[in-house]
Order: sequence, then structure tokens, then C-alpha cells
Amino acid sequence: MHAELIVEFIKYYGPPMVANAFPVFIHGGTPIDKGKAWRDGKRILGDGKTWEGLATGLISSYLASLAISVFAGNIILFPILLTGSFIGLLGDIVESFFKRRIGIRRGEPLPFFDQLDFAIASTLFYISVGELPIPGKLWIIILSLLIILILHISTNTIAYCLGIKDRPW
Ligand code: CTP
Ligand code: MG
Repeated sequence: MHAELIVEFIKYYGPPMVANAFPVFIHGGTPIDKGKAWRDGKRILGDGKTWEGLATGLISSYLASLAISVFAGNIILFPILLTGSFIGLLGDIVESFFKRRIGIRRGEPLPFFDQLDFAIASTLFYISVGELPIPGKLWIIILSLLIILILHISTNTIAYCLGIKDRPW
């Protein structure tokens, strides 16, 4: 595989992936929507979006962003990666909001969006601040999203087999 792809993938998508992965270890926690329903009578976000999960994601992506920025010898990257990870966490929350609105219950699958929600949100942020510029870096974005899709499916299957996740998606 192209070395540039591997470097850019780990640099830009490593912290958002870490941010998205660690909240899975939170079982229970305080729902961000306080258990409340939207106008349609369904939960605003559901029990899968908690403050503890958000905090876990932020702390783990803080460490990952710092490690990558130091390793890359470019501390300017740190706030970019941290913000990219945070936007990714928000993307996951926004996805849950839309899942509830179209009647998909917490934990039920919405293929592609479940796997790519955070990565799409992080990508939009990176593009907006001039990192991963289009069209030059579009191939890296597309291949990175493909790698995340494959990694997400395989790690979730493993997490399910190990009993960390209740469902294999
Ligand atoms: N999680 C959390 N808080 C967050 C994000 C995730 O506590 N802000 C935890 C929850 O335990 C959640 C798990 O991480 O169940 C996996 O996240 P995700 O797959 O996004 O949630 P789902 O349970 O599938 O819920 P949804 O249908 O809303 O996507
Ligand atoms: Mg989900």
C-alpha cells in the first residue's frame, strides 16, 4: 500500500477512531438527552449517547492527538486533530438523533452511517480548515473511509465475540 496513505490515515483518522472506539467500554452512564423524548415521542438521542462516553472519547482522543503531533514533530497538528476528533464525536451523536427520527431504535443498525458517521464529520472539518484538501487528497479520504468501514466491521465482530458489545454491529 502507498506509504502516504498509511501516514495520512493514521495521522488524521487515528485520533477520531480512538475517540469513537473507547466509549464502547462505557456500559450505562448518564444519557445526554436526560432520557427525554423529542416531539415525535421517540427519544432525542437514546441511552447509547452518554456524558461518560463523550468524556471518554475526548480524553482518549486528547492523548492520541498529542502523541501523533509530538511524533510528527508538528505541535500545530494537536488542536487540529483534537477538534477533528471532537467533531467526529458530535457526528456520532447527530447520527443517533437522525436514527431516532426515522424510527431506528438505539443499537439497531443503520449500515454505512453507523460505521462512518464520525469519520465523515471529521473529514468535513479537515476539509474546511484546509487539511486533506480536495481534489488532491480525495483519494486518501475515500480509501481511509473504506479502511474504517472494514476495520469497524471486523473490530465490532471481535468485540461482540468477546462480550464487550451486545450486538455484532
Ligand atoms: N457510547 C456512549 N456515549 C457516546 C457514544 C457512545 O456511552 N457519546 C457508548 C454506548 O455504550 C454505545 C456504544 O458506546 O452503546 C457504541 O456506540 P454506538 O454504536 O454509536 O451506539 P449504539 O448503541 O449503536 O446507539 P445508536 O443506535 O444511537 O447509534
Ligand atoms: Mg451504533
